[in-house]
Amino acid sequence: LRQFLPQDTSKPPVVFHWLPYIGSAIYYGNDPLNFFFSCREKYGNVFTFILFGRRVTVALGAQGNDFVLGGKSIVFNAEDAYGALTIPIFGDDVVYAIPNDQFMEQKKFVKVGLSTDNLRAYVGMIEDEVEDFINNDTSFRVYQANDIEEWGFFDVSKVMAEITILTASRTLQGKHVRGSLNKTFSQLFNDLDGGFTPVNFLFPNLPMENSRRRDHAHKKMSDFYVNIIEERRKSGNLDESDMISALLKQKYRNGKPVSDSEVAHMLIALLMAGQHTSQATGAWAILHLADQPEFAEKLYKEQVKHFGTPDGSIRSMTFEELRQLPLLDALIRETLRLHPPIHSIMRNVRDDVPVPPTLSAPSKDGVYVVPKGHWVLASPAVSQTDPLIWKDAMTFDPYRWADPEGAAAQALKTYVDENGEKYDYGFGAVSKGTQSPYQPFGAGRHRCIGEQFAYLQLGTILSTLIRELEFRLPGPVPDNNYHTMIPMPKEPRSVHYRRRNFASRA
Ligand code: HEM
Repeated sequence: LRQFLPQDTSKPPVVFHWLPYIGSAIYYGNDPLNFFFSCREKYGNVFTFILFGRRVTVALGAQGNDFVLGGKSIVFNAEDAYGALTIPIFGDDVVYAIPNDQFMEQKKFVKVGLSTDNLRAYVGMIEDEVEDFINNDTSFRVYQANDIEEWGFFDVSKVMAEITILTASRTLQGKHVRGSLNKTFSQLFNDLDGGFTPVNFLFPNLPMENSRRRDHAHKKMSDFYVNIIEERRKSGNLDESDMISALLKQKYRNGKPVSDSEVAHMLIALLMAGQHTSQATGAWAILHLADQPEFAEKLYKEQVKHFGTPDGSIRSMTFEELRQLPLLDALIRETLRLHPPIHSIMRNVRDDVPVPPTLSAPSKDGVYVVPKGHWVLASPAVSQTDPLIWKDAMTFDPYRWADPEGAAAQALKTYVDENGEKYDYGFGAVSKGTQSPYQPFGAGRHRCIGEQFAYLQLGTILSTLIRELEFRLPGPVPDNNYHTMIPMPKEPRSVHYRRRNFASRA
């Protein structure tokens, strides 16, 4: 009933709701973007909603992103926000289980594993895996036993889940992990992943069957990795181009080496961080290619132009060449603009924080304060689809990235990270930092370190597929299903496909 009484104007306005405790959970859970846009109309860029008893203060727009993601990591705390969900999955000595300074050191170790030399080695491996998958995997045969059917179809989420794990394990995780991708590993992965749900996030202490399976899988997965790591140590071969070799060579600033358990848990964390994010992005990219065959043809021609050979085949590309393909780049950028895998970036507030007047007009009692105990939420998905910023914001238009005056080009520019390090790849979704409206990889201290790998992985997968296949969509591009942590396309999400050289083969 408190909401019917005059509101406390020193705090951001609270979104109207009928059900105490549950608050706006149902609207937010079903369609967070519509919820945010409609709240913005009523309350402006900063408002608080109730999510099963939690008070979540949302800060929208590029300045809202800046407020949350550029905030001090002690005050806007990620460990408090994500720890309960992720510690049972990743382990108790990595990521959000440890003080942020130590995790920052672990992030630096991982960056060593993502060196350009390693990335260079991965392009050919990913091409091989994708070729092998479409030629040999029984779930992906174009031709039935007697080659009668011209067009086949596949569930785009399932196919991308398989391709993502095959390619990530062959490259980052290393050949031992790739060699162990069998039914037992898949079961463990599924059980571990089964603990990564909105229900686990909201009610981490509920005794649930999926949490029991998750804990069992975590133990088994840890043992599996520790065995591989011990063997690697014994062999003395730390020159593989994978993450295990890189991590085993690192030391903390205090001279302490990284333990086997920490390496194992970092590998689990990386596996989980990269799986659904890349799977979803790849799936949405294929759906849009299937929906816009003319653009898909241009993408194919880009491949032919750069890598076509006199005998009519298309040769492998190098990492450097992959970075010079504007249409491919635009495809990934535009997919991530409309379908960023992480729509809500959250932190827990450890101290009262005033809202800058530039972000939200002050109330009559002065600036709003986000009180200690609230959560804060940034949603780059909102600024990435804001009609006030983007022309035809909801239209999938990869060509917008080619307009040097458009919002897209302005959103990128050169990115300077918190250490003053400059990134100017001309490749990838590198954004201007915490103030950019385009932030599919987040910004600030917790920014993604997998961006370059994700671009390489997605770029190579999509190039290899477009060389071999044509896609069509039997209906419209599906809506988002927001009931999973990372939104996936709703069913039906079948994509029709056929081999490019079918006509000449027939
Ligand atoms: C952080 C997105 C792939 C590893 C993040 C964040 C976002 C993001 C938005 C910031 C989260 C926050 O501030 O709370 C994505 C997208 C991906 C992707 C869109 C693919 C399309 C990957 C991959 C890896 C990875 C492949 C590993 C190889 C990480 C790590 C963090 C992170 C270690 C840091 C978390 C922190 O400091 O709190 N990612 N990611 N990501 N991501 Fe990614």
